[in-house]
This record gives sequence, structure tokens and C-alpha cells, in this order.
Amino acid sequence: MHLLIKGGRVIDPAYGVDECLDICIENGIIKQLGRDLDIPGAQILDASGLTAAPGLVDMHVHLREPGFEAKETVSTGCAAAAKGGVTTLVAMPNTRPAADGPDIIRLVREKAAPTGVNVLPAGAVTAGQKGQALTDFTALKAAGVPALTDDGVPIQNLALLRQALLQARALGLPLLDHCEDRDMVQNYAVNEGTVSEQLGLPGRPAIAEELQIMRDVMLAEETGAHVHICHISTGKGVDIVRQAKARGVHVTCETCPQYFTLTQDEVLSQGTMARVNPPLRTQVDVEAIRTGLIDGTIDAIVTDHAPHTAEEKAKPLPDAPSGMVGLETSLALALTGLYHSGLLPLGRVISLMSASPAALLRLDKGTLGTGRDADIVLFDPDAEWVVDKNQFVSKGRNTPFHGRTVRGKVKYTISQGNIIYQEG
Ligand code: DOR
Ligand code: ZN
Repeated sequence: MHLLIKGGRVIDPAYGVDECLDICIENGIIKQLGRDLDIPGAQILDASGLTAAPGLVDMHVHLREPGFEAKETVSTGCAAAAKGGVTTLVAMPNTRPAADGPDIIRLVREKAAPTGVNVLPAGAVTAGQKGQALTDFTALKAAGVPALTDDGVPIQNLALLRQALLQARALGLPLLDHCEDRDMVQNYAVNEGTVSEQLGLPGRPAIAEELQIMRDVMLAEETGAHVHICHISTGKGVDIVRQAKARGVHVTCETCPQYFTLTQDEVLSQGTMARVNPPLRTQVDVEAIRTGLIDGTIDAIVTDHAPHTAEEKAKPLPDAPSGMVGLETSLALALTGLYHSGLLPLGRVISLMSASPAALLRLDKGTLGTGRDADIVLFDPDAEWVVDKNQFVSKGRNTPFHGRTVRGKVKYTISQGNIIYQEG
């Protein structure tokens, strides 16, 4: 069975490909890239006017199952991923029970299998994400986790974190860390600054994130482990990572569209929709995040897709949960904010969303090389549309981007040769 994608602009950052080519897929595998391919009997997909890129790899997604199915299920989360062009995602372990053992990892993988999206659940670092006892990393690795993380619950105990890093290093697994000092941020709703003052609320200071990034970098340097900083949001945080990389420390980091697009002021107009951890910061931070993307300090763009129910988000700002959905808007926001604005070439934006995260997780994904899985996103980079949360297939409607005009629309998502999403 052949599928022939004809006439698209093929961008494959891993091999430096950027030209008009046809893609021939056989049995879910990329068989050939070439000009004017003619395969008798092949199903033809007309991609003229579209860009063909590796299926996106989103290494930070909250699928909520098991335990919080009212917010999202593996099935609805994967449908949102497919609609957003994402073919591989890393699911965060803050479910109930937490993904702290092989049984939960297997459960999530089984639920994901029929969706066609390649779901890789990350394993929790500590039992129940309680920050007290390490999980069985060897068993988690055998169950297929690509990384370890207690995301959502920053790790405070440094002796435990150091032990975790030594074990993770021995197994060749990266540790993904949500950096915010818990005592400094408590359950506060917004960045500490002008907006928290105006609202009369205690805030989450930038230094709470930066101190933990510094701490993690030092532990990565000392242990030789690979530390990956989740959803970096502050300019000084980016500086710390930049300097550590220059010294050869094995540290990588990711950010999200909200951190290169929005500031804390969004909370004043959008309330709980703009509540997220770490919080939206200042314009200076937004500029620094963009600089970090341009100079390569930041390795990946992820969503931190964090669906919550309308009831939860209807609570007053101090009581509502943090988080925003992102799977159905991330490519468009990245193209709008980074490519159409002239900050990054198209190939770099694609790399940050596919090849680069795949490489840092050592996944055999994120490229259109022959012999690889045919995971492909076909999108119109110029198509303008208005974000409408009511059109989301995610259960989560919690986005601060509702009503925003963006450019770049996913037309088809193909996973292992199967069309798992088609517009309209
Ligand atoms: O805003 C957030 N929401 N940040 C996190 O780290 C966790 C996430 C969630 O699970 O809702
Ligand atoms: Zn987090």
C-alpha cells in the first residue's frame, strides 16, 4: 500500500532538506523523497501550496488520564494533538494515580494505541510525586519511559534530586524539571510584579524559578546527568542555561508559545485563563525567551497542554487551577510569533517542534529520512484563522488565545502512514 504526497514544500531540518519534493510512503515508512515521483496504484495526496514537515514532537503534555477524565482523556487529548499536527507526545505523570510505576505507563500506552498518536508517558521521579522516595527507574525504563519528571510538583529535596540524577545518568534517561521553589510560590496565581501589586495578591517571583534552574545546572554539572528545564519563562533563567551550555554542562530547555507571546498583563484582561505555572512574566522576559530561541539556548517549543474544566477555571483567580491548553494552537502561535514576525526561518521553527526535541529525547522521530516512520504534518504556513475555543476537540477550553488571529493551519496529520487528522 503506497501513499504519495505530491507537490509540497518538504522541510526536514535533520537532513537540511527544503525543496519541492514528492514523498512516497510504503507500509507506514518513508520510502523515497524525489521529484515527480510516479507510483502506479498509489493513493495520491495533493500537497501543492502546503509545507510537509516531520510530525511534531511535543515533549510536555498533560493527558489527565487516569484520574481526571473530566478535564481530558487520553483519547480526547490525542485527538487535539492530531489536530495540532503532533504525532509524538510525552505525557506528564501528574495523573491519579501518578505515573510512578510500569502499570500506569502501560495503561496510558494502551489507551493511546488506537488514536494513532505515539504517546510516551514520562515516569514520575518520586512515588506519588510526593518528593520523598525515588521510584524504580529501571522498571520505568523497561516500560518505555523516555524521561523522568515530577512535573507540576517541583522537587525540593536536594539529596533526593542528586540521587535521582545519578541513577538517571546511569540509565541514560533525562530528568525533566519544573523549576519553581515551592516555598516561594506557594499556590499563588500570578507573577510577582506590577500585576500582583495591582490585584493585591501575593506573587510567584522570577527568582523562584531561576534559583532552581541554577541548582539543577550545578547538579547536572556535578553528576554528569542530563537535566532538561521545563517551560522556561524568565530571561535570567535563559541566561543561566546559556552559560551552562557554554561550559559543556548537559542541560537543555524548552519553552511554550505563551512565554514568547504573552505577558503578565494578560491576567488583568483574561483572569484565570491566563493563570499558568510558571506564570506569564514581563515584556523583558518575553524578549529574552525570543532571544534564547534565536541563539539556540532554548532547544524545544512545547505546549504544556494543561486542560481544566470550565467550573474549575470559573473560580476566583486565587483558587482556580493553573494551566492552559495548547495542542490545537501551538504550531500557529509559533509560526505567527516567530516565523511571520521575521525572527526565525520556517525550518528553525519546525526543528524546535520536531527534530530538536526528538534528538534530545533520543527518539527515532522528528525527521522525514528514508526508512523512518512516516509521521508527517502538512500545513498551510500562511493561512489566517481565528482561534475559537468552541472548535477545540480537547475537552479543555482554557486558552488565553481565544479570538486571536493567527497564521498557519494544519491540513493533514499523518502518523506511521495513516491520516489521523484531516481538516474539515
Ligand atoms: O500550569 C501548569 N499546569 N503548570 C504545571 O506545571 C502543571 C500544569 C497542570 O498539570 O495543570
Ligand atoms: Zn510544569
